[in-house]
Amino acid sequence: MKISSLAMVFLTGLICKTFFSMSFSCHLPRFKKSNGQPAQQFLPSNKTRHPLAPPYPFPYKFLMNPQEKCQSRNPFLVLLVASQSHDVMSRLAVRETWGNESNYGDVDVVTVFLVGLPTVASDKVQQLLEKENNIYGDIMQQDFMDTYYNLTLKTLMGIEWVTKYCPTASYVMKTDSDMFINVNYLIHKILLTVSSGRENFFTGNIRNNTGPIRTNDSKWYVPKEVYPDDSYPVYCSGSGYIFSSILAQKIYDVAQVVNILPMEDVFIGMCLEKLNVTITAPIKNIFYGVWKNYDRCLFNKLVTVHDYAREKLKEVWTDFWSKKDSGCPD
Ligand SMILES: *[C@@H]1O[C@H](CO)[C@@H](O)[C@H](O)[C@H]1NC(C)=O
Ligand SMILES: *[C@@H]1O[C@H](CO)[C@@H](O)[C@H](O)[C@H]1NC(C)=O
Ligand SMILES: *[C@@H]1O[C@H](CO)[C@@H](O)[C@H](O)[C@H]1NC(C)=O
Ligand SMILES: *[C@@H]1O[C@H](CO)[C@@H](O)[C@H](O)[C@H]1NC(C)=O
Ligand SMILES: *[C@@H]1O[C@H](CO)[C@@H](O)[C@H](O)[C@H]1NC(C)=O
Ligand SMILES: *[C@@H]1O[C@H](CO)[C@@H](O)[C@H](O)[C@H]1NC(C)=O
Repeated sequence: MKISSLAMVFLTGLICKTFFSMSFSCHLPRFKKSNGQPAQQFLPSNKTRHPLAPPYPFPYKFLMNPQEKCQSRNPFLVLLVASQSHDVMSRLAVRETWGNESNYGDVDVVTVFLVGLPTVASDKVQQLLEKENNIYGDIMQQDFMDTYYNLTLKTLMGIEWVTKYCPTASYVMKTDSDMFINVNYLIHKILLTVSSGRENFFTGNIRNNTGPIRTNDSKWYVPKEVYPDDSYPVYCSGSGYIFSSILAQKIYDVAQVVNILPMEDVFIGMCLEKLNVTITAPIKNIFYGVWKNYDRCLFNKLVTVHDYAREKLKEVWTDFWSKKDSGCPD
């Protein structure tokens, strides 16, 4: 990280205001509690590991654990927001927009941010992160390096957390801090309409018939030693996928024995394949893993749009949220 952005991080840390998230109780479907331990048939076995494959299973430990978030409440939806450890500005924007837990009335929504260990200016960034967490109490961190190739560990951390510290939640969404998320649409038009197969519910932006990139200068390079097959199973784009908390437990279990892959979204697809879980096809055009120009009535009827962060997210959200009750044509 450059000095200028470090200074920005520090400044924002100073101007942060404390806010107390209100917790609501709600009368929505709940799932049963689990004990957070991997099921017997999924206990880890030893494997040799390519340097690009993160070490897993491994006893990564929580350095920050927002476990009080889930105490004495049964969230309907947990938003797991992957974020880079130094990126305080994006987290602030999410807290002020779709990640604000008090936006959703009777529907209990929990927002938590997933980070790893800072790799640049690590002591300073870690101190700032701890300050930020003292104010907001919504940051989850384990002791793995916060790098692109370790994103799978970040996602697994969130899934481990739901399994162990928030098992009474109904649904979980994994997304990123550079996304526009219409949480109301997700809750009311999708999750509350799920009728059958709730326990194995998994949906998002489906990617089918894809495979690993073998050119070693690509950001998404995956060598044959890490993933020998030429095709990936069906999976949902990591920009936003949603699943039941029961499925979180099952994914956590099976992840102990599936060969780890740096591409977190593909890895979750591999876990689903192993679990024989079929991804639920979403309504057309509601998950955009790409950028779309802001249009209030369009954004009213979708769940995710990529590439809205910081000031841009706040600007769009101000319009979107202030006019949320005014009509749009059907
Ligand atoms: C796996 O590795 C650990 C540490 O090297 C060793 O103690 C354990 O016996 C191994 N387990 C199996 C199933 O080989
Ligand atoms: C979240 O929303 C509540 C209610 O509108 C508001 O009082 C609070 O300031 C918001 N929090 C943030 C971080 O914007
Ligand atoms: C992932 O994190 C582990 C644990 O901190 C570290 O040893 C490893 O180098 C990281 N891997 C990559 C590819 O960044
Ligand atoms: C993926 O594509 C195959 C054929 O290429 C098709 O049979 C299958 O139904 C597709 N799956 C999904 C979930 O779209
Ligand atoms: C990357 O691939 C090219 C062409 O296949 C090869 O010549 C080169 O040695 C590779 N580099 C690494 C670091 O593996
Ligand atoms: C998935 O289906 C296969 C083939 O029907 C079966 O062998 C396997 O046990 C199933 N796995 C799980 C986790 O249910």
